[in-house]
Amino acid sequence: MQVIHTIPELREALAVHRQRGFVPTMGNLHDGHLALVKQARELVGPTGAVVASIFVNRLQFAPHEDFDTYPRTLERDCGLLEAAGCDVVFAPGEKELYPEPQSYKVLPPTELADILEGHFRPGFFTGVCTVVHKLFNIVQPTLAVFGKKDYQQLMVLRRMTAQMALPIAIHGGETRRSDEPGNEGLALSSRNGYLSAAEKAEALRLSATLKALIARWQAGERELAALEADAMQALRDAGWAPDYLTLRRQHDLGPAVDGQPLVALGAARLGRTRLIDNLEVVG
Ligand code: PAJ
Repeated sequence: MQVIHTIPELREALAVHRQRGFVPTMGNLHDGHLALVKQARELVGPTGAVVASIFVNRLQFAPHEDFDTYPRTLERDCGLLEAAGCDVVFAPGEKELYPEPQSYKVLPPTELADILEGHFRPGFFTGVCTVVHKLFNIVQPTLAVFGKKDYQQLMVLRRMTAQMALPIAIHGGETRRSDEPGNEGLALSSRNGYLSAAEKAEALRLSATLKALIARWQAGERELAALEADAMQALRDAGWAPDYLTLRRQHDLGPAVDGQPLVALGAARLGRTRLIDNLEVVG
């Protein structure tokens, strides 16, 4: 496995590979990231190249967010990536990716990017789209894999790729969850490292509350606003500060309606840590 820090070296290393599977990350890797790398390996075949990038993208963090403290664990990450079947790690420094202020940006459409995560993190999806578009131009992958853990991000990036006619197949990877006793089922996240043991156990309440929301819908309740308000209140009662808990159409994240595939999504702060999760509604 090669670890490469500059754009010209990356281009040279990849020149011989026609099939390239790409997994962009911000590092501090866990089994969720590694599952995407394994999926990319399967998809691209034994002769293709699997590329993972590690770059904490300043553009997608608001000034009050955790850019400075976001965990940077490059050496450990590279060991994990090698074991997962990655061929090339692209870990550019900030000056390599942003040698001058990135004033050209990719602006995603408001109807998809200003709701949910985008509502509570203004500019977030512009930062994500801009860096992913730039990374796509650098890596020139034939396929890329993103996690359903960041459901809205996957949707925004799929639409960007389609609308910009990028010749890249976008794949979604299932959300990986903890199997540790005490917090079994907790969606893996680099930000879980901010949680104490007690908070980790409590963190399960987010997915439990989404499950309860889905159960009420499936039991026939259709007062969506009331169902969502109850879910928010349940988290508040347990000491959380929820941003949203909501039931949406999978297809465009519009409000839930009968007869269409749905997904429950939530974001909430537990102590100083902001967690997100989502569950697709089956049946
Ligand atoms: P990051 O949070 O590091 O996530 C990298 C990829 O891993 C994303 O596609 C994310 O959805 C996926 N992922 C995270 N947790 C997961 C889990 N528990 N199960 C499955 N997949 C999981 O998302 C980003 O970085 C950035 O926004 C990025 C796309 C790299 C742009 O900077």
